[in-house]
Amino acid sequence: MTFKDREIQELQEVGLKEIRAAANPEVLEGLRVKYLGRKGALTQILRSLGQMDPQARRRLGQEANTVKQTLEEALAQALAAIKEAARRAAGPVLDVTLPGRRHPRGRLHPLTQVNREVCDIFLHLGFETVEGPEVELDYYNFEALNIPADHPARDMQDTFYFNDRVLLRTHTSPMQIRVMEKRQPPVRVIAPGRVYRRDSDLTHTPMFHQVEGLLVDKGVTFADLKGVLTAFLHEMFGPEVGVRFRPSYFPFTEPSAEVDIECVICRGEGCRVCKVTGWLEVLGSGMVHPAVFEAVGYDPEVYNGFAFGLGIERIAMLKYGIDDIRLFFENDLRFLRQF
Ligand code: DAH
Repeated sequence: MTFKDREIQELQEVGLKEIRAAANPEVLEGLRVKYLGRKGALTQILRSLGQMDPQARRRLGQEANTVKQTLEEALAQALAAIKEAARRAAGPVLDVTLPGRRHPRGRLHPLTQVNREVCDIFLHLGFETVEGPEVELDYYNFEALNIPADHPARDMQDTFYFNDRVLLRTHTSPMQIRVMEKRQPPVRVIAPGRVYRRDSDLTHTPMFHQVEGLLVDKGVTFADLKGVLTAFLHEMFGPEVGVRFRPSYFPFTEPSAEVDIECVICRGEGCRVCKVTGWLEVLGSGMVHPAVFEAVGYDPEVYNGFAFGLGIERIAMLKYGIDDIRLFFENDLRFLRQF
């Protein structure tokens, strides 16, 4: 091995060591220039071969070219390794230009909206909101409300019973009893909530929502009942809508009245929705029956009051012109998005 052979080999060894130790692309570029550049070490060796005899020149030339290739490959490998390490250190690739994930914006169910609207109106009229159990005792749902044992509402066909004593409340009226048992007059409450009946068709679902109202004080008259309910209906359906009170019967009120509004569809002309009467029934009401006061220990000679009950689904259907109650419970977004 000649001096030149050794020089070429050493150059490869030192070059490879330096390349493998390089920490960044700039250092690598410096090494490339140092060894393979136009004025680099290897180029100089190749140049110096010019004075040698052809045989030695060819051999050393080949050797130098092999070293050149080795160093080039080592440079490329080292560069790739440095880049890969940098990418790993930077963590997972984050593309900040990717569009974000949209969160679909929810909205309140139309029944929730109408329920809130009803409660708000009575809140402004001085009523307080109370809530009570959906699983109710026969005593509160019927007996204390002066609903006799032979009343059709007590039939198994109309009421979901758990047993003789326990049932799903069929109306919010039991809240009248629960409130009066706990408080002394004056009482001014509304009680919104779910109620249950064994009923199902275009206008009835086994579960629906009511709002109960109760006002008890000294000297309350039917005029107060008319005033409060008319104010409510005008707030709900507009100040021009006609309101009428029609004599009716409920076991827990005397006298009792059903309240109608002018048909919101035909404005009183007569149509399919109002069955050509021009009027739509919207709530039940009346002066609290003395027997109800006696059940809670109020003296009916001292106190009187009025009560009312309305269906949220019915109000919502009239307000928005919806003809099938089941739409409220199917959760079809195409329906719900309209409110
Ligand atoms: N509870 C009755 C029903 O569900 C509605 C009702 C009528 C409530 C008259 C009342 C009332 O408070 O006075 O059909």
